[in-house]
Amino acid sequence: MQKTILITGANSGLGFEAARQLAKQGHEIILLCRNKEKGELAIADIKSFSGNQNIHLYTANLAIQKSVETVAAQIKKDFGKLDVLLNNAGGVFSDFQLSEDGIEMTMANNHFNYFWLTYYLFDLLKAGTDARIINVASDSHYQAKNIDIESFYKKKGRYFVMSAYEQSKLANVLFTYALAEKAKPFNITVNALHPGFVYTPIGNKNGNAFFGFVWNTASKLFGLTVEKGASSHIYLASSDDVKNTNGQYFHNCKAKKSSAISYDKNVQEKLWKESEIKSGFSFL
Ligand SMILES: NC(=O)c1ccc[n+]([C@@H]2O[C@H](COP(=O)([O-])OP(=O)(O)OC[C@H]3O[C@@H](n4cnc5c(N)ncnc54)[C@H](OP(=O)(O)O)[C@@H]3O)[C@@H](O)[C@H]2O)c1
Repeated sequence: MQKTILITGANSGLGFEAARQLAKQGHEIILLCRNKEKGELAIADIKSFSGNQNIHLYTANLAIQKSVETVAAQIKKDFGKLDVLLNNAGGVFSDFQLSEDGIEMTMANNHFNYFWLTYYLFDLLKAGTDARIINVASDSHYQAKNIDIESFYKKKGRYFVMSAYEQSKLANVLFTYALAEKAKPFNITVNALHPGFVYTPIGNKNGNAFFGFVWNTASKLFGLTVEKGASSHIYLASSDDVKNTNGQYFHNCKAKKSSAISYDKNVQEKLWKESEIKSGFSFL
């Protein structure tokens, strides 16, 4: 069955590869990108690779709540339903900085991004057929020992790039499990995935040159190709095998256990409540 699939961060790396392959399967694809020119280049490539012309582009900075709200309103005007929301856009930030909403950038860009977009598009997903939400997380979440709410808003001691990233990816898994329970009455499934260590420019964008160099060299030497890395994106978005699978963490198209703390309902609820309070709305 042809699905309407929205993919964030679809102009680069894993999101781009997922968009190419899902377009080739014949689905209608909505690319949500930060930059119009990069998005247009991606669309041209996807159309020529797949032969599918049913591809649409929207732009937003997903680290800014107002920008997410505005683009979601445009999408809701243009589409009557959404079958798949693939929350994929993310980043790594080598220095501490606050977003426009006063949130530490890694947490704004990697967690609040998913929370806001899912909230603002939830009515469209309710209208979808066997709707699915897929959150791209990472095995680096195993390293995060807890969710430290204070660190969302202020620098506490020295800022460590990987600790911030690991916490944001734990937030992706916690959000997935909490939402999977809350979305059950609407027949919407929610799963998370780890793509593997994949050669993409993610470590080379928002930070110092040294970190970028190390990331680039290591991921080029040891990383997977995006074709391999995006396999779970494509599987979870399109396969009938996982039509009814809910609240799981995937790697290589197979469910596996995430970290012990990610199953802690108190931590899930703490993150959920904080996300609602900071966002100024209540969600489910
Ligand atoms: N690569 C890995 O080894 C790896 C491992 C585990 C998990 N992941 C996860 O996989 C996902 C995709 O990463 P990738 O490796 O494919 O990196 P990538 O090539 O840098 O792609 C990230 C995409 O997200 C977009 N994006 C980032 N911040 C955005 C914002 N504020 N607003 C709108 N779009 C934004 C980027 O746009 P621009 O092109 O404009 O920057 C880009 O299209 C991320 O969630 C990442 O955490 C990656």
